[in-house]
Amino acid sequence: MKALIVYYTETGNTKKLAHLVGEHLHNQGWAVDERWLHAPNEPKSYIGKCLKAFFRIRTKVESTFVVVSPYDLVCFGSPVWALEPVPAMRTYIKDCVGLVGKKTLAFVTYGSGLGKDRCLENMAKILKKKEAREVRLLSVASSDIDNIEIVKEEIKNILG
Ligand SMILES: Cc1cc2nc3c(=O)[nH]c(=O)nc-3n(C[C@H](O)[C@H](O)[C@H](O)COP(=O)(O)O)c2cc1C
Repeated sequence: MKALIVYYTETGNTKKLAHLVGEHLHNQGWAVDERWLHAPNEPKSYIGKCLKAFFRIRTKVESTFVVVSPYDLVCFGSPVWALEPVPAMRTYIKDCVGLVGKKTLAFVTYGSGLGKDRCLENMAKILKKKEAREVRLLSVASSDIDNIEIVKEEIKNILG
């Protein structure tokens, strides 16, 4: 069984969560590919990032792994920005090919928690539009991200 984990990160929290999800799956016998999405044109300022995310503006994403058909499980990880997934993740999910009938996981890391459920619901909505068969949801606060045992437990609760 093969899993793809695609994530975006700026300050490393979502990367840490992606690694822990990968480790969990690997320990269960999955072959795991982890990929970091690069978006070269994101605004530098906080407000610029918020506006781009909130208004759901498409962005340029550098990725060569848009075809997800070879995978049995596809996991999408994003920080919460202005109650939304980051523009790169929204763009990637919309553009990726081969999601029909797939099992998926949407996961986010967040700060205050404002909008994290809305963010996950929005990711789930896009995934369902692309006809993913199953969408599981996982969220971890940035303040908990180094509490490995808590995060591992959360992952186990969601992925089994
Ligand atoms: C531009 C911007 C907007 C953010 N908006 C939210 C938000 O609406 N709700 C929230 O809980 N956290 C928000 N955060 C906090 C991030 O979601 C959190 O720090 C996350 O773990 C960062 O992930 P990363 O380290 O993978 O980049 C925001 C951070 C940034 C930089």
